[in-house]
Amino acid sequence: MVQSPALFVAPARAQEARRHLKERGIERADLKIHRSSQGVFIPVTSTDGQPPAQGQWTTHDFESNARIRSYKDIVDVPDALRRDLPTSFDIVGDIAIIKIPDLLLDFDAGIGEALLRAHPHLRAIFVDEGVAGQFRVRRLRRIAGTGGSRTRHKEFGLELDVDPALAYFSPRLANEHDRVASLSRGPERVLDATAGVGPYAVALARRNPQAQVVAIDLNPAAVDLLRSNIQKAKVGKHVEALVGDGFALAAHTPGWDRVIVNLPHGEFSDLARLLACMKPGGVLHATRVIETKDANTELEAFAATHGARLAHVGLVHPYSPTSALYAFDLEARITGPSASK
Ligand SMILES: C[S@@+](CC[C@H](N)C(=O)[O-])C[C@H]1O[C@@H](n2cnc3c(N)ncnc32)[C@H](O)[C@@H]1O
Repeated sequence: MVQSPALFVAPARAQEARRHLKERGIERADLKIHRSSQGVFIPVTSTDGQPPAQGQWTTHDFESNARIRSYKDIVDVPDALRRDLPTSFDIVGDIAIIKIPDLLLDFDAGIGEALLRAHPHLRAIFVDEGVAGQFRVRRLRRIAGTGGSRTRHKEFGLELDVDPALAYFSPRLANEHDRVASLSRGPERVLDATAGVGPYAVALARRNPQAQVVAIDLNPAAVDLLRSNIQKAKVGKHVEALVGDGFALAAHTPGWDRVIVNLPHGEFSDLARLLACMKPGGVLHATRVIETKDANTELEAFAATHGARLAHVGLVHPYSPTSALYAFDLEARITGPSASK
């Protein structure tokens, strides 16, 4: 709150008063007008002369009207640590997830409160304590706001139930989810082999009602959310959700037109197993963290070794100073791993 000279007027005279103050150029735009049950307080730069509209000059506490550009503008941390404040964080539905460096952890509550003030549409702020295990689940600790990490996230018009503490979800892949979904045409057999809560499978099923989609994940909590998302998107007639191993399923029911596998830290041999389960001409959409300087060479070499064509490579986001998360498409020209050129 900021204390300022003010004009106090009856509510019925507030408009008239503001017109006079504006004419005299003394209404403050950087503070918010305060309406109370007794009357209206209008912040001013000067109380010289007669108060207009039968009001009276006073002083009052006002909220700032200035749009806060960043939580860094209002957060209270020692100056020496200011340059270590994180510049980015993920917004998932109505929560934010932020990584805080160790030397700022004593100030995490203040950082959380500043984020909530700078982003009033957010309900809660969580510290990201890392992704762990086969399910790629995020350890989250709430530092401000209320409620849990379950939320409803919207991307490209698709609303998804997500809970990053129970099942992997990344809002940074939104463009990639949409790109893959947009490529599906006609009556295809599609497998999302590591489906999570379904951002690829459900988006694709909405775009292509003729696709027969199987979405599978090892994590039962992810599949619960996936089933809810299938139901809410009304695509249940052509999307089946399963708990289980996507690689085993791909091998048991080969001949897929399209397979999606978002497992950025998996082995290249996993991709080879999936390529062997595709129809000739089928497309495998994959992600991988790769050293930036080697990315294209490595992917071209893999494609050539497995008789596939590297049809697309896109950088999703940097991962470390020397590596990045890549999304790429491999077109299965010849099934099986033996067709090196
Ligand atoms: C990085 S997350 C991707 C989830 C989802 N595709 C997305 O983009 O939001 C990887 C997912 O694969 C699942 N997973 C790992 N190994 C698997 C396997 N062998 N079969 C099926 N799912 C698997 C994990 O439980 C996790 O939900």
